Amino acid sequence: MKKFFPVYVRVPLIFFIVFALMEYFIDSGDKPAFVKYPMVSLFLFVFLFILIAIEITLSAVNRVMYQLLSPEEKAQKELEESLSFKESTWFKNLMHKLTKTEPIEKEGELLMDHDYDGIKELDNNLPPWWVYLFYICIIFGVIYVVRYDVLGADDQEMELKKELAQAKIDVAEYMKTAPDLMDEKTVVLLTDGPSLAEGKTIFTTNCAACHRADAGGQIGPNLTDDRWILGGGIKNLFHTITNGGRDGKGMIAWKGTLKPKEIQKVASYILSLQGSNPKDPKEAEGEVWVDDSAPKTDAAAATTKDTTEVKK
Ligand code: HEC
Repeated sequence: MKKFFPVYVRVPLIFFIVFALMEYFIDSGDKPAFVKYPMVSLFLFVFLFILIAIEITLSAVNRVMYQLLSPEEKAQKELEESLSFKESTWFKNLMHKLTKTEPIEKEGELLMDHDYDGIKELDNNLPPWWVYLFYICIIFGVIYVVRYDVLGADDQEMELKKELAQAKIDVAEYMKTAPDLMDEKTVVLLTDGPSLAEGKTIFTTNCAACHRADAGGQIGPNLTDDRWILGGGIKNLFHTITNGGRDGKGMIAWKGTLKPKEIQKVASYILSLQGSNPKDPKEAEGEVWVDDSAPKTDAAAATTKDTTEVKK
């Protein structure tokens, strides 16, 4: 392997695989995992740097040592290398590198002088894979303590709370800009010219047949007076137009035909006709509607007396 890929290809390749695995297994929302968890990336990059540095230093040292050898020794070494390369696969090399196991013939050299009733002890090397893992744990531990206990980064509970709070803000923001997600609680009266003109078009096309082009009323009630069967004000109108009138009266629910935004416009248009007194209006039906949510003035308080409760 070493022969085919130089260190500056091999090591980053391993890291690329690690990042790909991270990306695959960690749920990091819309951001890539290594952007979302910068500490992990930082750690990986430091580790990458150290690995490359070690490899480069080692190969430099090897080269210098090689130069110092006599010509015979050089030839000998080259022979050895070509032989060992033929014999052993890269996997074997790797395993040896990671475990540093000594061949069984060398056991005698490793024997320590401890002897417990015939049980003897070998002085094997700590396997490098274990040692590196241990170092990684130490570095991780230091970063962890500094990050959470010294610098006071958010723990999981705090992270959750923050994400929930942010989600609430996002939803509110989305509702503001998503016109078709309006309901009778969030609908507001429109007063700008273009919206009212659109409302008029919608009214003429869909509603005039029953309410008359001037909204004076025919099959449907007069929509220009201050009396309402189903409650006045933008919110009640939105509700009535969306869900229809009382059963059997002829006013259908328009939610299948009109979008919320369109219902808002036509309702606003109707309210702009208040007090327009069209000719021969249909006689008034319903009650005078008083907006409960508006601040009460003396005049409003007086009219409340002859008003029954707001319908629907
Ligand atoms: C088929 C005839 C018909 C059509 C078309 C029609 N309406 Fe109506 N509308 C009625 C009737 C009838 C009522 C009375 C319902 C009741 O008494 O419950 C009514 C009631 C209403 C009310 C409530 C009035 C009140 O006094 O509370 C509003 C607002 C309204 N219509 C708006 C519209 C709009 C906007 C459209 C067009 C998108 C429309 N209507 C289309 C027949 C119609």
